Amino acid sequence: MTAKTLIDIYISFFEKNGHKRIANSPLVPENDPTTLFTSSGMQPLVPYLLGEVHPEGKRLVNVQNSFRAQDIEEIGDNRHNTFFRMLGNWSLGDYFKSEEIPWLWELLTGQLKLPKEKLFITVFKGDKQVEKDEQAFKIWSAILEKEGLNPKERISFGGVDKNWWSRSGIPENMPVGEPGGPDSEVYFRFDDVKHEKECKDNPVECECGKYLEIANSVFMQYLKTEDGFKPLPKQNVDFGGGLERLLAAVEEKSDIFKTSLFTPIIKAIEDETGKGYLQNKKQMQIIADHLAGSVFIAAAGIVPSNRQQGYILRRLLRRSFDNFEVLEGDNISFVLQKIVEQYGQTDEILKEKYEEIKGVILEELEKYEKVKKAANDFIIKKYGKGDDSAKPAREIKADDAFILYSTHGLSPTQIRSLGFVFSEADFAALMEKHKSLSKTASAGMFKGGLADHSKLTIMGHTTTHLLHKALRDMFGTGLHQTGSNITNERVRFDFNFDRILTAEEMEKLESTVNEKIKENLPVHFEIMPLEKAKNLGAIGLFDEKYAKDVKVYFVGGSEGSSSVDSELPRTQTAYSVEFCGGPHVNFTGEIKRFKIIKVENIGKGQKRIYAKINSQLED
Ligand code: ALA
Repeated sequence: MTAKTLIDIYISFFEKNGHKRIANSPLVPENDPTTLFTSSGMQPLVPYLLGEVHPEGKRLVNVQNSFRAQDIEEIGDNRHNTFFRMLGNWSLGDYFKSEEIPWLWELLTGQLKLPKEKLFITVFKGDKQVEKDEQAFKIWSAILEKEGLNPKERISFGGVDKNWWSRSGIPENMPVGEPGGPDSEVYFRFDDVKHEKECKDNPVECECGKYLEIANSVFMQYLKTEDGFKPLPKQNVDFGGGLERLLAAVEEKSDIFKTSLFTPIIKAIEDETGKGYLQNKKQMQIIADHLAGSVFIAAAGIVPSNRQQGYILRRLLRRSFDNFEVLEGDNISFVLQKIVEQYGQTDEILKEKYEEIKGVILEELEKYEKVKKAANDFIIKKYGKGDDSAKPAREIKADDAFILYSTHGLSPTQIRSLGFVFSEADFAALMEKHKSLSKTASAGMFKGGLADHSKLTIMGHTTTHLLHKALRDMFGTGLHQTGSNITNERVRFDFNFDRILTAEEMEKLESTVNEKIKENLPVHFEIMPLEKAKNLGAIGLFDEKYAKDVKVYFVGGSEGSSSVDSELPRTQTAYSVEFCGGPHVNFTGEIKRFKIIKVENIGKGQKRIYAKINSQLED
């Protein structure tokens, strides 16, 4: 079975069960610099899981390209990828456990024909705040008994570390306003894998890869509040299954790098290095995984740099170059070509952008060579030439190793592989100091969407719509939003504009937004066909691939006017009409006041406005 066939089977199964397919959201979220990458299918759906109405309805399905930077160090085993595709289906307050679990069983055993005796289930065992999931246990037990399988042997119970899911992990780590819930997972048992010593034969406890998690149904029904959990307005299902892992189960390959998706890529690495996979697994897994991730990140228009997504891309590439070099690889372009060929079967865009992607990656390779030379020169300048003949490891100060890390962008492993040794403890201490500094700088990152759903953040969100419209009225419709980051402390808004704003322009902007606040305009949304929204002149980005109906927010204009035959009255009365998931205030008057704090140039013809509203402004 190919990855593409598996996707088709999954999507059509859920479409048959009343789900609407939604688009794969961009890997690098547009308009949302609060998170670096889309890392699960639910991430773009957070407002809807919290209760907003989704334009496509209550049953959704998709395949989402996802990237998990936190897994970079995990690569080098049989089951982890940084870049992966997540098959997802959602119930937004519609069906719950009694539908989700039997459908999942039918998908796995009926549609994908996985042998049922190899499937094992885990269910939430409860903790001090949320009770044991007896309901999921009962539903699974009934299904297994009907299949002649013993539920006692097949269902294990896990705690919050295994059977609880939220974007931030266990309940204690969840910020206020974050949704989460108990989950039930399905594992596939590979009979050719032997347990390592001391590993228990149980999917909750086994760490050695004999059991592979292939499916996760999250029963998203709780909201973290100041005083523990409260039920969400509606009970949701958030299902995610890793495509690469499902393929491994379908093909009975205990190593995902041996599936039909990866075999041609690994073969290209073997050909270019003249070495075998079995003896060099870890290096080849890193090369295949990291280059695949890099290809997708480069296709999203990111170039290697020392910041944010660019930094992750640089790290992935340099790690794959290092491993390719250790294996004495010849031409990495052939590996790239194979990756694009394989993933291009589902993501055509890779084929279209192949030359561009290749250019970005090979340029980084060249730069990396130069950096390594410069690092060498830096050390020689400081310590003298040294004895090169026997190539002994040169001892350097941790401070200098840290300069190679922070200025030249070399990791400790890379520094060591250049032949330098240094005190690991001193280096770690410098690193700690650096981390706590950059943590402060990036506080609020990785949370996804609006920083939270507090009143001030929601007001800030509506403010960006007012600002966007006011800017377009002043400077024309070629101007558009390129990003936003809204916390309960301030509003940040990015847009394309390639000269500085004059003091008069800033004043005008400020007073226009304040006028619209004073007018106390009503805010409402309507769900309508994409074409109609476009005809209304709705602004903003929208991925049109699968969308039939879209959600549009109006500031000004009265609710219900969509039933009026002519669309004119509403566009005339509405101040701003924008594609958006929400949430927003009900009336602009709630924002009270708006003040621009500063305008920054953020390069590439883009400006960033920082502003404060309401109680963020001191009297
Ligand atoms: N959101 C859940 C996950 O990522 C399904 O595992």
